[in-house]
Amino acid sequence: MKNYTSFLRKRTIPGLSLSPPDPESHPPHLARTSESGKPSMTGDERVAVQASHSRRFKKRKRVKLKRSRGKRREHAIVSPLVKKYWLQRYQLFSKYDEGVKLDEEGWYSVTPEEIAISHAERCRGRTVIDCFAGVGGNAIQFAILCHHVVAIDIDPQKIALAFHNAKVYGVADRIDFVVGDFFQLAPSLKGDIAYLSPPWGGPSYKMIQQFNLDLLKPKDGYSVFQAAQRITPNIIMFLPRNMDLNQVEELSWLSSPPLHVEIEENYVDGNFKGITAYFSDVASRQA
Ligand SMILES: C[S@@+](CC[C@H](N)C(=O)[O-])C[C@H]1O[C@@H](n2cnc3c(N)ncnc32)[C@H](O)[C@@H]1O
Repeated sequence: MKNYTSFLRKRTIPGLSLSPPDPESHPPHLARTSESGKPSMTGDERVAVQASHSRRFKKRKRVKLKRSRGKRREHAIVSPLVKKYWLQRYQLFSKYDEGVKLDEEGWYSVTPEEIAISHAERCRGRTVIDCFAGVGGNAIQFAILCHHVVAIDIDPQKIALAFHNAKVYGVADRIDFVVGDFFQLAPSLKGDIAYLSPPWGGPSYKMIQQFNLDLLKPKDGYSVFQAAQRITPNIIMFLPRNMDLNQVEELSWLSSPPLHVEIEENYVDGNFKGITAYFSDVASRQA
């Protein structure tokens, strides 16, 4: 079929038109009908229809090929570090194929969507300060379920990506994006809940037998927690799965009286991804 059409294009065949045939060109007395009574096509018309089917078939094939090439090319350009996370891309963003974008740090530090949804459910209807917003994994889910979100990141590229991704999810207008240092901004921030997802120091955190608060970046976990307390005692902290839980509990003793605390393990498809500590109002009282 492929060769046949290109053959037709290259040679001029008398009477062959690749555009729909003109009904006027066949006088009524010459119009032939099939057994069903419908007008049957002339040889030239049949060739023209076949050529147009072939063109459509070729176009569909080209689009398919382009899409699969695009996916293969994307797979090829991700760095070996990112590849593992790219393979889990729909766990990170269910709308990944609709245009979600991440930088290298974003790939390994974004909160998986299912966990981000469970964090957002705790904050339903309230105003959340996402103090380390990254590429927007949490901020997007807060925007879907909460009253309002302030998303802060020190890296302008992260805020640009978070804004872009929030647009993909249709919630960009429900988030205030701020490029800035959380520690400097904290005293002037107001909100019901402070959400803390500070850097864990890269994927190598997994190699450490027991992670501790001093290993968090850019400052230790105590400093991060104390800065958040300037905003509100209602704090959610997302931490590595190998975190020393005694230290997390001790954070509640930084307040007097001590804050109520709940610690939850987070799994995605049976894989242990991290732990979440909820303090004060956002902690479940039954825990
Ligand atoms: C673990 S990532 C956050 C991921 C985010 N929860 C998500 O789901 O996309 C931590 C982020 O903290 C940002 N960060 C580091 N130091 C900061 C600071 N002093 N103030 C605000 N953001 C900071 C980094 O640029 C990084 O994007």
